[in-house]
Amino acid sequence: MKVLVATEKPFAGVAVEGIREVMAEAGYDLVLLEKYTDKQQLKEAVKDVEAIIIRSDKIDAEVMDAAQNLKIVVRAGAGYDNVDLVAATERGIVVQNTPGQNSNAVAELVFGMLVMAVRNMYNGTSGSELKGKTLGIHAFGQVGRNVARIAGGFGMAVSALDPFCPDEVIEQAGVSPVHSVEELYSNNKFVSLHIPANEQTRRSVGYELISRLPKGGVLINTARKEVIDEDGLARALRERTDLKYVADIRPDSADALSAEFGDRVFFTPKKMGAQTAEANINAGIAAARQIVEFLRDGVNRYQVNK
Ligand code: 3PG
Repeated sequence: MKVLVATEKPFAGVAVEGIREVMAEAGYDLVLLEKYTDKQQLKEAVKDVEAIIIRSDKIDAEVMDAAQNLKIVVRAGAGYDNVDLVAATERGIVVQNTPGQNSNAVAELVFGMLVMAVRNMYNGTSGSELKGKTLGIHAFGQVGRNVARIAGGFGMAVSALDPFCPDEVIEQAGVSPVHSVEELYSNNKFVSLHIPANEQTRRSVGYELISRLPKGGVLINTARKEVIDEDGLARALRERTDLKYVADIRPDSADALSAEFGDRVFFTPKKMGAQTAEANINAGIAAARQIVEFLRDGVNRYQVNK
């Protein structure tokens, strides 16, 4: 069996070594394609592999058609909006993710960015603290739950909205469940986004919600740029000069937003949330193990294209 690790944004070396060990133990060959710059390189690399480990790498029908032996794609991470699930199902290819493996890393970055925002991007002026402030968590999945845990240490009052998560689960985490998106944005000074990008959520957070944030509000986005209506965001920032937007995903209109709003917006140049050695090791090795378990034993616990 041949397994490809295709990562435009590479894992830490120590994670690649861990993946290599799992594959060697199983007697599988490992091929590495890192920092590739065009799709053609990916199409070449997938030609004769049975399995692929990816991160935010795009796997569409064209790539799948170039991979005639492909049986499984594992997204080492949470969001799988980068994989064409319909095309995979049509071709009998299993797609899995590795839920929870990189969520602490993303949650820690939420606070890295939030502290930066309330300290005025460290520009030397007097900022504010997180203690006693309200934090709304938009979707209470693995990252949202880690955000809630860390927020407890900061002494914040935490609420969460998640129609797919029972109130009891939210309450058990010491978090107040809220039941409408309007309520979440109106009653929390800071809102942290953790919704996936899909048909229902694309451009779903825009002017109407962002302008509900209380005075001095900050929207933190470590999820996906696609969930933001960027025109609406710009309008809210224009009308409400007290608001800030910090994101781990460079928006399409990043240059225009930075030019108009300066220090009130911040974007990482590349998605950094899961870019820690620990997250790479956890997600990368989980992906490697899931591939071996699937190809060898038929175990298919984390399939997302059912
Ligand atoms: C995820 O969905 O797991 C995160 O967004 C991390 O993505 P990355 O592996 O491309 O950094």
